[in-house]
Amino acid sequence: MDGNGRWAKRRGLPRSMGHREGCKRIKETAFLCEEFNIKVMSLFCFSTENWKRDQKEIDYLFKLLESFFRDEIDELNEHRAKVMTLGDLTRLPASAQEAIRQAKEITKNNDGLILNICLNYGGQDEIVNAAIELATKVKKGILSIADINKSTFESAMESHALPPIDVLVRTSGEMRISNFMLYEAAYAEFVFIDDHWPDFKRPQFLRVLEEYSKRDRRFGGIKYESK
Ligand code: IPE
Ligand code: MG
Repeated sequence: MDGNGRWAKRRGLPRSMGHREGCKRIKETAFLCEEFNIKVMSLFCFSTENWKRDQKEIDYLFKLLESFFRDEIDELNEHRAKVMTLGDLTRLPASAQEAIRQAKEITKNNDGLILNICLNYGGQDEIVNAAIELATKVKKGILSIADINKSTFESAMESHALPPIDVLVRTSGEMRISNFMLYEAAYAEFVFIDDHWPDFKRPQFLRVLEEYSKRDRRFGGIKYESK
């Protein structure tokens, strides 16, 4: 969800206004996913690197997130969306942690779109944490090294309940992964959109689907079944 700051700057507005406008796209995009039968949407809302920003901007982002969860949870719940998160939430302001806890609790039995919000998240951290968990088990004698494989490694990842990523979208014209779900994106199709995140609406969403539908996914094989 890149480009909130640039969106605001282009309009002579403070960065916070870009974040505010960008926040409105979350629910809309979630409902577009629902409409097109997409099962999981992960959003990179705050990275382990975003702590480098001004404290005022950080405070604003978490206040926005908190009001998002408080104001939108009922509608998300009506749509049977299930809120999940990735990342270490303990560094977030207590009131934001509480709003997230409630959102998860309210939606925990829902079978609609999984809305996975990545907060204080880094793909490298997630992999390192899985390695620590497995190493600890080996040290305690619960697991042997021979038992470490892709499947046990994936079970140790915080994202263990999520499928691999099919399509990874980055807005704002940047062509980097920036530490987002590195392991899960192994075979993701990348779609880069020049528009800033606050401008990511239905036409942009449809463009992503159209682009994705043209890709020939071979997963390292030679030929993928023709569609
Ligand atoms: C993305 O917009 C939102 C968050 C990281 C929360 P940016 O804040 O990165 O906007 P730009 O990249 O400065 O335009
Ligand atoms: Mg940015």
